[in-house]
Amino acid sequence: MTEEIVKSALSKVMYPGFTKDIVTFGFVKDIAINGNDVSFTVEITSSAPEVAAQIVDEAEKELKNAGAGKVTVNIKAPQMPKESSSQGKNIAPQIKNFLMVSSGKGGVGKSTTAVNIAIALAQQGKKVGLLDADIYGPNIPRMLGISDQKPEVTGNKVLPMKAYGIEVMSMGSLMEEGQSLIWRGAMIMKAIEQFLRDILWSELDVLVIDMPPGTGDAQLSLAQSVPVTAGLTVTTPQSVSLDDSRRSLDMFKKLNIPIAGIVENMSGFIAPDTGVEYDIFGKGTSQPMADEFDTKIIAEIPIEPAIRTGGDEGKPIIFADPSSETAKRYMKAAESIWSTIEEINANGGVDNQSVQPTTPPGVSACSTGSSSSQQQQSSGGGCGCS
Ligand SMILES: Nc1ncnc2c1ncn2[C@@H]1O[C@H](COP(=O)(O)OP(=O)(O)OP(=O)(O)O)[C@@H](O)[C@H]1O
Ligand SMILES: [Mg+2]
Repeated sequence: MTEEIVKSALSKVMYPGFTKDIVTFGFVKDIAINGNDVSFTVEITSSAPEVAAQIVDEAEKELKNAGAGKVTVNIKAPQMPKESSSQGKNIAPQIKNFLMVSSGKGGVGKSTTAVNIAIALAQQGKKVGLLDADIYGPNIPRMLGISDQKPEVTGNKVLPMKAYGIEVMSMGSLMEEGQSLIWRGAMIMKAIEQFLRDILWSELDVLVIDMPPGTGDAQLSLAQSVPVTAGLTVTTPQSVSLDDSRRSLDMFKKLNIPIAGIVENMSGFIAPDTGVEYDIFGKGTSQPMADEFDTKIIAEIPIEPAIRTGGDEGKPIIFADPSSETAKRYMKAAESIWSTIEEINANGGVDNQSVQPTTPPGVSACSTGSSSSQQQQSSGGGCGCS
């Protein structure tokens, strides 16, 4: 048995809820080998016993397959949160609620959903911010028609921009057009933290956060930085997309983030000339998945040319055509999200203590990686460090 064999076996063990393995996340420490016997420590960021149990089971299985004898796994996990005394972390305490918009894979309409839901919430009287945390493909500025604007800097803080009644910040507004950035795990964590701490967000009722696709460093960093009130999953009706969406819902569960629902996007087609709705990829196919995760489909958004042109031209449909069927469905979805958020808060709110890293503050769990490319992230499989 060698350290290489051990690491290669353990790199087949995914961190529960994520598409990234425990070696890549940098969680495996202190590997000791004695003949064929192996012992090591896994420093995890969840206090949930089932997360530890799953890692131990899978690590033992993979190591036995690789020819190991006795396998000893030491799990180092954060303390279980104590009732009532919150030790969670919130680096943006002036923001009352955080809504994480996620999807298992790219291109399903996450940003479109985040934009229209954020504006819908504002139209319903809430004070709303929209954070484009998709550092790989930030396209919120274009969708809001503010790609020419540069945010104002005061001291070492940055003022959010304003559009359609909401506050907005995006990496796309901080870098030159067409520039693409290569991010490592530690940089992703820093970027997410700065977006929350160094942007002068007002006292918002809710910050809607458009995440990069997949389940990786950005999602984990966000959950560790602020108590995420609720998660919203965007999917398309095809089963390939549903498989990925299941991962996104499972990630919310593993991060102890209450689920606000599923938006089934590109669900049917409304013909612009007749207004008749046709079924193309299927409709309502995400219902079994909603049942499985004890949540609901809060909107079926059809394929509609006006949604795409609205996005391309910086005029979101919720604003450009509020009487359209689609705009009405976004409004209903926003109402549903808000009532879920109120219910969560009435039941004591959320706490992110159970996902705090075991590594010292300021040290990323995966600060030793090499760079990854935009493509890796878009495919949903890769993350910032490897
Ligand atoms: N219901 C819809 N009808 C028509 N076009 C849509 C619809 N939803 C999204 N689109 C278009 O599909 C494209 C992809 O949508 P969007 O950028 O919102 O997806 P995404 O999940 O955020 O993608 P990425 O993973 O690249 O960030 C955009 O051009 C958008 O305007
Ligand atoms: Mg997007």
